Amino acid sequence: MESSTKTAKTCTWWESGVIYQVYPRSFQDSNGDGVGDLEGVRKRLDYIASLGVDAVWLSPIYPSPMADFGYDVADYCDIDPMFGELAAFDALLADAHAKGLKVLLDFVPNHTSIEHPWFRESRSSRDNPKRDWYIWANAAPDGGPPNNWTSDMGGSSWEFDPTTNQFYLHAFLKEQADLNWRNPQVREAMTNVLKFWFDRGVDGFRIDVLWHCFKAENYPDNPLNPDWISTQGEKLKVFQKHSADQPEIHQLSADFRALADGYGERLLVGEICLPVPQLMTYYGTEASPGVHLPFNFQLLDAPWNAEALGKMITEYEAALPPSGWPNWVIGSHDAPRIAGRLGETQARVAAMLLLTLRGTPTLYQGDELGIGKVDIPPDRVRDPQDLRQPGLGLGRDPSRTPMAWDSCRFAGFSAAEPWLPLHGDWGMRNVAAQQGDPASMLELYRALLKLRREHEALSLGSFALLHAAGDVLIYERYQKDRLVIALNLGAEVQNIPDYGATTLLLATTGASMFSNTLAPNEGVILQRLNY
Ligand code: NOJ
Repeated sequence: MESSTKTAKTCTWWESGVIYQVYPRSFQDSNGDGVGDLEGVRKRLDYIASLGVDAVWLSPIYPSPMADFGYDVADYCDIDPMFGELAAFDALLADAHAKGLKVLLDFVPNHTSIEHPWFRESRSSRDNPKRDWYIWANAAPDGGPPNNWTSDMGGSSWEFDPTTNQFYLHAFLKEQADLNWRNPQVREAMTNVLKFWFDRGVDGFRIDVLWHCFKAENYPDNPLNPDWISTQGEKLKVFQKHSADQPEIHQLSADFRALADGYGERLLVGEICLPVPQLMTYYGTEASPGVHLPFNFQLLDAPWNAEALGKMITEYEAALPPSGWPNWVIGSHDAPRIAGRLGETQARVAAMLLLTLRGTPTLYQGDELGIGKVDIPPDRVRDPQDLRQPGLGLGRDPSRTPMAWDSCRFAGFSAAEPWLPLHGDWGMRNVAAQQGDPASMLELYRALLKLRREHEALSLGSFALLHAAGDVLIYERYQKDRLVIALNLGAEVQNIPDYGATTLLLATTGASMFSNTLAPNEGVILQRLNY
């Protein structure tokens, strides 16, 4: 099996670090309105620090009509009253820093809310100075939308606006109008947004749908997807050849990067959902680097067998540019819960995989409790993606349910009924119940994070794939020491090769002895001796 010997040349906090995603609506409510807020996050910082992560990424907290729960921003330089105010953010940032945690915000450059003053102006008349800040086009000759582009949330990407008799573009909801990044004033205004937060002390940004920011000029039709079936949702009806991933995005990424680097060791993580070859281009070049970490989402839907995972990991490693640092994601507010997909015991193996691969891991709140499948009663569905295209399984609410802190009413999340229901087994599956229980998912995460911190081989070391067949995936991480990670992805006992004298550092099953046999759904980290 091919092996990779790439090692880190330098070590920034984010190369050796681990990111923890907080979805603020669902983390901790402090004012009893059933929705999480910044003061709630601040109160839970000790918990976050106790996990052993390095940075918190907060999903959007800006003023917003919440059509897409904050990804429809109405003011980039303030805080939505639902979450608090700027002073609450400053307090959170200061406390996080005092606890050694970095804070990343979510930057949403592709679109604003249609309630943003910029869009209100833009839509008011064709000759408004901000008209060109957004993307307006005339109807097609038949009177319909200007082209065949489909929104990721279903339906056309174009919304007719009767005030000025033109359509505006929205890659997502019609409440989220796409900005025109070809307009230098948009660049300047949004650059000022980044400066506003960097000056306040934030440590970086996760950049929402970065690859969407530029569209081909003149908006040609996208090629039709011949294999599309309606149950896939309308996003996949066409290939987004002209509506996303345009060459101009790379100069913009490089400009963002130069700005961030000018502030010192700040981090830009780009949300880019593209196949690996295109994804790699978002690292930029040596001369013109792009974002530090183009999110690598492959684990979210990778086939769960050793051969496929081994191939995916090796190909990703091999595709990285020389100075490109890898990263891995296994959950988010957009993706189904990993424990729901794999079951709890295998989710423990997945946690070991995530936290022992080479590259910066991003954890999603609640995965450390092993929250699995959640049923959202029809009358409690809130996700616009689900409401617009019901019955297709596109709903994101199950991943956005509130954190469960204890077994008190509403799980210690809020004094009021939460905006989304809790997971069904919250009474047992909560932080208080798992804390201190060595068999719990929470303590497994903590143990993995501790090991990752103790062994530089795990955070920064080289990676070599040793075995990937059937249900057994084995790889090695090495720097000063040499660790072998052996994962059983299935429910049968598996024998693994003899790697000489080893010490068992951690087993997902809690076992304390190891003799070349993996129990069903077991992962182990072994330290090689005398190699
Ligand atoms: C990606 C975000 O993660 C998702 O929640 C949102 O709906 C879209 N971008 C649009 O902003």
